[in-house]
Amino acid sequence: MGWPLDIDRTTAPTDVPDYDDLSASIRALTKGEVDTVALMATLVCEIHHNHPLCDWTGFYRVVAPDLLKIGPYQGGHGCLVIPFSRGVCGAAARMGQVLNVPDVDAFADHIACSSSTRSELVLPVWNGAGTLLGVLDLDSNTPAAFTAADENWLVPLLAEVFRDSV
Ligand code: SME
Repeated sequence: MGWPLDIDRTTAPTDVPDYDDLSASIRALTKGEVDTVALMATLVCEIHHNHPLCDWTGFYRVVAPDLLKIGPYQGGHGCLVIPFSRGVCGAAARMGQVLNVPDVDAFADHIACSSSTRSELVLPVWNGAGTLLGVLDLDSNTPAAFTAADENWLVPLLAEVFRDSV
């Protein structure tokens, strides 16, 4: 009959990536690379295009004491400079902690680069020597998009990928 009958409409859209598959791609693509921006660009590309709930995916880099500047990203334009004293990204860098914000409107100091953002996950990124390189910022137009599974996947992966980063 018509084409709609050939499509399985009962399958719910998936809202998580295949973490193992994505990790394997990222490991293969970044193997042997130590340049920080090259690593950031590759991670952003892979995460943004494979995580169904990422609407903005990018790194902010530590470029001076207590100062972040935008790095590789995908999505609409982001603000260029974020001091450690501002926003979710600044707080994650300042505290050295993962911040999972299910509702950005409830985070007093959230910096709204895009009015469509509803939730975000920000993870500090260190190299193996313990130098803070920046933060990874995942923003979603879906409320409470990110889960402990995302955190548990990304924390060890970031440590592994950026271990020898310079
Ligand atoms: N979400 C960030 C700002 C960066 S942009 O959204 C791209 C924050 O509040 O730190």
